[in-house]
Amino acid sequence: PPLSQVLSVLEMEEIARKLISYKALMYYSSAADDEITGRENIRAFGRLYFHARVMRPISHCDPSTTILGYKSSLPLFVSGAALAKLGHPLGEANITRGAGRCGLIQMVSSNASLSYASIAEAALSLRTTHPNIPPTTLFFQLYKHKTDSIAIERIREVERLGYKAIFLTVDAPVPGNRERDIKAPFVIEAQEAEAEAKGGKEAPLVNKDDDEEISRTGTAGALIQNDDRDMSWGRTIPWLRSVTKLPIVVKGIQCVEDAVLAAEAGVDGIVISNHGGRQLEYSLPSIDVLYRLRKQRPDVFNKIEVYMDGGVRRGTDVVKALCLGAKAVGMGRPFLYAQSAYGEAGVVKAIRLLEREITTGMRLLGATKVSELVPEMVEQVSWEPL
Ligand code: FNR
Repeated sequence: PPLSQVLSVLEMEEIARKLISYKALMYYSSAADDEITGRENIRAFGRLYFHARVMRPISHCDPSTTILGYKSSLPLFVSGAALAKLGHPLGEANITRGAGRCGLIQMVSSNASLSYASIAEAALSLRTTHPNIPPTTLFFQLYKHKTDSIAIERIREVERLGYKAIFLTVDAPVPGNRERDIKAPFVIEAQEAEAEAKGGKEAPLVNKDDDEEISRTGTAGALIQNDDRDMSWGRTIPWLRSVTKLPIVVKGIQCVEDAVLAAEAGVDGIVISNHGGRQLEYSLPSIDVLYRLRKQRPDVFNKIEVYMDGGVRRGTDVVKALCLGAKAVGMGRPFLYAQSAYGEAGVVKAIRLLEREITTGMRLLGATKVSELVPEMVEQVSWEPL
């Protein structure tokens, strides 16, 4: 269907599901075990209802904000997700350019299927094609290699390329058990060969289908097999601070206690996230963790920026998270599907749809700027919606 007829990111996902390869669909959509957390991330938003305020002037509504001090046109960013090329030949560049055109920040995955340099170039290319938009901000999602010196090389590379923050992923010391992904045959090699034939080593994958560990752990196992399994608050955060001056955000906080420890460890922010339900099955839905953090430890929100991702599909989801104190929210799969189905234009469209939904939600709730979204505006209900 033409893009003009697509009305929501959920619709775009449905379209992409019919277009992409079986492997891409299994890799993108899968979550751990029985995919309970994967589903509940989305459903948990359905247990939060608004207390809308009326008779407030809302003709002017500004949903923009800052993330780590960088301007963002919406309280929304792209969460780092690997292997965009599985869904579309231009891969991450679609997301970089689409997000950049709309003033959104992209967190680039350590396991992107384009090199970090190509992605930085895609961001720069907007200066030529769209001279009127402000410079694009990129953040970097770090999977820390078990060897410190190799991790440092990676950090230096993205610093040189102008990435503005390090999002250290901490919820994946081992791969989650994603059975649908494990069952789907591995097809990265063909793409690798293609990239190499063109002279660039674009895909960072070197694994063979017959590798036993990988056939047991799927794509995730292949991608993170050399990562540090022994990270700790006491060692890893001070180490990272000593290595880089960039802001540090910890991605993958799944309970109130760890949010408090992160704030004490002196990081700049946290992403409440369970990796889209792909890591620990029965990890609480992210929005529920945010709800608890807001209730139990409101002080944390004054010390660090708190973000969340997982299950955000509608503008009202974004608004709910902001009411509960999130500075911004991330989305993973929706951008993968948008670029798979429609390339860069799909990403732009997804963001425009979300922008419309966010401002409509804010207006009907009686808020005209993000600072007016407060906890009193949402209530958690115990009954399940129909
Ligand atoms: C991810 N995610 C992820 N996270 C990360 O830190 N590094 C990575 O390389 C990846 N790769 C990745 C691939 C795919 C296909 C998915 C779906 C997810 C997790 C991602 O950053 C984010 O936390 C979730 O996607 C958020 O949930 P939603 O928005 O997909 O529901």
